[in-house]
Amino acid sequence: MRHYCGEVTLENEGKRIKLFGWVRRVRDLGGLIFINVRDITGEIQCVIEPESEYYKMAKELASQYVVEIEGLVRKRPDSMVNPDMKTGEVEVVIEELKILNTSPTPPFLPEDIVDVSEEVRLRYRFLDLRRPQLQFNILKRSQLMKHVRDYLYHHGFNEIDTPYLTKSTPEGARDYVVPSRIHKGKFYALPQSPQLYKQVLMSAGFDRYFQIARCFRDEDLRADRQPEFTQIDIEMSFVDIEDVLTLTEGLIEYVFDKLIGVHVKKPFLRLSYEESMKNYGSDKPDLRYNSKLIDFTPYLETSGFKVAESIISSGGKIVGVRTEKLLSRKEIENLQNEIKKEGAGGLLWFKSDGEKLTGQLSKFLSGHFDPGTYLLVGDKEPKVYKLGGVLRNLVNRQFEKKEKEFSILWVVDFPLFERNEETGALEPAHHIFTMPREDTLKYLRDEPEKVIGKQYDLVINGIELGSGSIRNHDKNLQVELLKMIGIDENRIQSNFGFLLEALEYGAPPHGGIALGFDRLLAVMLGLDSIRDVIPFPKTTSAQALYEGAPDYISEEQLKELHLEIKRDD
Ligand code: AMO
Repeated sequence: MRHYCGEVTLENEGKRIKLFGWVRRVRDLGGLIFINVRDITGEIQCVIEPESEYYKMAKELASQYVVEIEGLVRKRPDSMVNPDMKTGEVEVVIEELKILNTSPTPPFLPEDIVDVSEEVRLRYRFLDLRRPQLQFNILKRSQLMKHVRDYLYHHGFNEIDTPYLTKSTPEGARDYVVPSRIHKGKFYALPQSPQLYKQVLMSAGFDRYFQIARCFRDEDLRADRQPEFTQIDIEMSFVDIEDVLTLTEGLIEYVFDKLIGVHVKKPFLRLSYEESMKNYGSDKPDLRYNSKLIDFTPYLETSGFKVAESIISSGGKIVGVRTEKLLSRKEIENLQNEIKKEGAGGLLWFKSDGEKLTGQLSKFLSGHFDPGTYLLVGDKEPKVYKLGGVLRNLVNRQFEKKEKEFSILWVVDFPLFERNEETGALEPAHHIFTMPREDTLKYLRDEPEKVIGKQYDLVINGIELGSGSIRNHDKNLQVELLKMIGIDENRIQSNFGFLLEALEYGAPPHGGIALGFDRLLAVMLGLDSIRDVIPFPKTTSAQALYEGAPDYISEEQLKELHLEIKRDD
């Protein structure tokens, strides 16, 4: 019977077992040959003696050969026990050996630590995926899917899938489009999320929907952004904010416990958007660090320090952060360079030893300041807070210690709209299907920026992990909101007609949320890049290096699709 490599223990001592796996390492000691064999469960040491009829074959073995082994499990002598290996107390004495496949010398060895670039890893992803660390991540991915499903099924949710070949759903990014062969000149769009479909499902009466949904967005990529990614997409009928938050908190509590054995405290902290911006300079604050922004405006208003005074007198503010560490000139200069890249005019600073102040701003300030270095930026609102937030993150990452492993919180009470900095146009802060908070509806026509949306973001360790809202189930209000962001009647009908119809014919009040599945997993495993939890991720330039996508298609295909490529572009 087959045994898995990682599961052979002393209990199997004296038994003959069969193993399949990949050769990880061969150590030829002249007499004995040690062969470490791996499969998905782990690794075991096998040994072959010179007397064996398979000894010659064993000498041919090399890394990544695929073998079938039958042999006798024996206890290793005490001096040979390897406490770092799960199977370190035993070894298998090879009695029969078959080489099932060979391998050329691989471009890198699939070990936890590899000294090749990520490009090379992605180019040879099959090999990369043999690394124990990556296998661990992908198996965790599989388990997380199961835990999510278990929890949601247990809470009465129905798992319903929605189409990929669809109509553009505006979530703020560009669409990936697919040309239609049958309908000349027309295109499907891949869904940026199942948003419209889940709302239609609520209108249809399904009450509680979820889907582990693939979403496609053509946007600029970063470590936590992929062109195709996965959401835990949830929608519920007859609910308000509390219901969605409570359900989500339960889900997070459940998966943290099941996947990594971490107990999270409920209810999660809630910050209003305004509090979050003022105190942390971000709508996704990382509260593993305790520091808050300090408003230095009152201290510098009449300090005689011209730069600050002119910023303040033209309506701006000065905010800053403190780090206990007394930073060197070089460290301050580095921070200054970083913050300038983010659009700051400069970085102001002073130091305090608890009594005396020193440094750039010291002669303009008086009073007691706790010991440490103070770093300040000035600008108009809201930019000054955003700069403060960037500064807080930079300082935290370099000089502060984390107070806890996980910071989990909600940011609520977002404005419904934002103004586009370049065009001045109104844009939805989340998406345009969000219901305005009733008490702020009165501002809708004249002061739309004062309208608060029934939106909530889940933030873990400074990462936006999920976002959702209570939706408009009133068709007329939905049409009005669409018009406010500049979508004309024609486009409203052609792009959103199907949703509006579903709203018109008796849609229930409903709301939901989508959690970034890849981000959630990466955060739980303490990884910086979601590429390490996705089996076949794209590079930051949206390429699949292993299979080689995107790629050209043949002239015939183009013709069939009624497309022509301008080659000289
Ligand atoms: P939103 O656009 O905020 O909301 O997306 C929800 C969550 O999905 C994750 N996410 C991503 N993860 C990896 N790569 C990306 N490119 C990427 N973009 C987003 C984030 C984000 O919080 N339909 C709404 C949800 C709703 O209102 O119910 C939506 O898609 O973790």
